[in-house]
Amino acid sequence: MHSTSPSVNIDPASCVGCGTCTRICPSDILSLENNTARAAPDTDTARCLQCGHCMAACPKNAITIPAQNPDLLDFATFTMNHAWLPPGKALPTQYLARLICSRRSCRHYRQTPVEKQKLTDLIKLAVFAPSGTNSQAWSFTCLSSRPEVLALGQSIKDFFERLNKKAENFLLRKSLALIGAKTLDHYYTNYYESVKTAMEQMEKENRDRLFHEAPAVILIGSSPGATCPKEDALLAAGNILLAAHTMGLGTCLIGYAVAAMSEDSSIQKQLGIPESETIHAAVALGYPDETYQRITGRKQPTIRFQ
Ligand SMILES: Cc1cc2nc3c(=O)[nH]c(=O)nc-3n(C[C@H](O)[C@H](O)[C@H](O)COP(=O)(O)O)c2cc1C
Repeated sequence: MHSTSPSVNIDPASCVGCGTCTRICPSDILSLENNTARAAPDTDTARCLQCGHCMAACPKNAITIPAQNPDLLDFATFTMNHAWLPPGKALPTQYLARLICSRRSCRHYRQTPVEKQKLTDLIKLAVFAPSGTNSQAWSFTCLSSRPEVLALGQSIKDFFERLNKKAENFLLRKSLALIGAKTLDHYYTNYYESVKTAMEQMEKENRDRLFHEAPAVILIGSSPGATCPKEDALLAAGNILLAAHTMGLGTCLIGYAVAAMSEDSSIQKQLGIPESETIHAAVALGYPDETYQRITGRKQPTIRFQ
C-alpha cells in the first residue's frame, strides 16, 4: 500500500490519479502525489471524518475506510441495491412524498411481536443518517417484547407519580420559581393535568397510555464522543420512522419516556444502559391496528425567502 493511514487506505495499483477523491474530501486530507492519491501523513489524518465520501466517489474503487462495517449494508428482511442513487435520477419524488406524508404516529398496535431482524434492519438504516462531525456515536437499546415494554412503562409511570406529587406542592413550586428554578412550575402549568389523567386511565382501564400497547421500543442514545448527540439521535429516529412504515410497522416517538429517563437515572440503570450514555429518543413500534383513508395537511409554517 502506498498510502495507509488509520482512517483511509488507498490502493496505488488501482488509483488512476483522477483527483475525484481529493476534490470531494470534506477535510482536505487527500492530495495527489506522482499522479496517485495519498492521505496526509498520520498526524493530519486525525482530521479524517471517516465519512467515506472518497470511497463512494472513487471511479476505480481504490479506497477503503477500515472503520466502516460493510455488514451494515446487508439487510435480512429485504435485498438492497448498493448502487448510489444520483439526485433526481431514480426514486420518483412522488413516492417519497407519499411515504413522508403517510407516516403517522401510531397509537394502536396489534400484539404481534416485531421480528428482531426487522428491528436490526431498522437500526442499520438509522445509522445512515448524518451525524455531527460524523461521530456516529449512537446507541440503540431494543425492547422487543411486551413484558419488557411494560416494565419500562411502569418505571416511567412511577417517576411521573413522584413528579406529580412534588408538583402538587404549591409552596415548593413557587419557592423554586423564586430562586429561578421554574421547571416544576412550568411542568405543573403545562403537563400536570394531562399526565394525571393519563395515569388515572392507565390505572382504571388498564390501558397503556404511555407506549400505546406497543410490543417493541427502540431507545436511541448517544455514547461519549458525539458532538451533536440530540440532533444525531433524532435524525436516526427519522430514518427509523420512515423505514418502519415501508416494512408495515407503525411507530410513535415517546417524549414522556425520554423526559423521565433524563430526570431519573435509575430507569436507564435498570435497562443495563451505561451511565455514560444519554437517551434522546424513544420509538414505540409494532404492527398497526389502525388505518387511515387519506393524507391530511399541516399547519402553515413560517416560510421566508430573503
Ligand atoms: C419529540 C417528540 C415527542 C413526542 N412524544 C410523544 C408522546 O410521548 N406520546 C405520543 O403519543 N406522541 C408523541 N409524539 C408524537 C406527536 O404527537 C406527533 O408527531 C404529532 O402529533 C404529529 O402527528 P403525526 O406524527 O401523526 O404526523 C412526539 C413527537 C415528537 C416529535
